Amino acid sequence: KRKIIIDCDPGIDDSLAIMMALTSKEIEVLGITIVCGNAPVQMGFENIKKVLKHMNRLDVPVYLGADKPLKKEYVSALDTHGEDGLGESFLEEVEGYETSISAVEFLSQTLRKEENCSLIAIGPLTNLAHLIQQDKEAFSKIAMLVSMGGTYKSHGNCSPVAEYNYWEDPEAAAIVYEEMAKIGKQIHMIGLDVTRNIVLTPTLLSYIERLDSVQGQFIRKITKFYFDFHWEWEHIIGCVINDPLAIAYFINPAICSGFSSNVQIETDGICRGQSVVDAYDFYKKEKNAVVLTEVNVQEFFYMFLECILHKHKE
Ligand code: BDR
Ligand code: CA
Repeated sequence: KRKIIIDCDPGIDDSLAIMMALTSKEIEVLGITIVCGNAPVQMGFENIKKVLKHMNRLDVPVYLGADKPLKKEYVSALDTHGEDGLGESFLEEVEGYETSISAVEFLSQTLRKEENCSLIAIGPLTNLAHLIQQDKEAFSKIAMLVSMGGTYKSHGNCSPVAEYNYWEDPEAAAIVYEEMAKIGKQIHMIGLDVTRNIVLTPTLLSYIERLDSVQGQFIRKITKFYFDFHWEWEHIIGCVINDPLAIAYFINPAICSGFSSNVQIETDGICRGQSVVDAYDFYKKEKNAVVLTEVNVQEFFYMFLECILHKHKE
């Protein structure tokens, strides 16, 4: 199994990504680190415990990370994810789950210890920026870094040009992309260009429920708010689930295609959080990213179902 750490801000689609990762036969989740984003960090921590409890996986360690962005004021996305950050499902709190070290300490220790550990970041990149500031060497040991964030040709979801995870903490995203350029590695950017295609429809949700009522009903509970939000704001029948695509891509990179490019993150002004993709190499800079632009949607949902239904087959 390939080892991973998931850095997240749960969050409805983060929770679906975690469910997928925990049930995939190909990966082993060494730990989950929480960052403020969709929900404040402590709420994200409470939410992930609820998801782990549902999955019967409270053995997976969870670590608290940054409670605010590097420089900007913290702005949650509870308008999209509901007042509890989990689609107003108001699931029962899970007591008695202690965390001894911080997210950055866990990242630093684990990346130094494990030979081949990858990182899938599905929230703002604040924890990773802190890791770079505190332990560059550990950061350089990440085997593969996948980040759900940014956008190339698709319009933003926070401004005309910016996607939430990079908009929320643009300084952190800029530091991570710059560091990747310095160490000559590439970050795999799963942006809105690809994730916008991943729409969980009411039909698919009903089918999941028919195949597995336990998983289906849990997903229905946490996505109901998200469905309503998408209909109200974008007239989409269904909800866009961004984060599970980062997991699916890690398991099988062939489900997306794209190109290598230099990417820099704008930190201020009306383009705050924009991922500036230099597709035509104007700046002649290090190609520090693989920018994904196409996705095989059918294959994604096949993988998603294979994973989450697998839990109950065993
Ligand atoms: C990203 O922001 C959050 O709403 C989602 O969890 C995802 O990580 C999409 O812009
Ligand atoms: Ca997220």
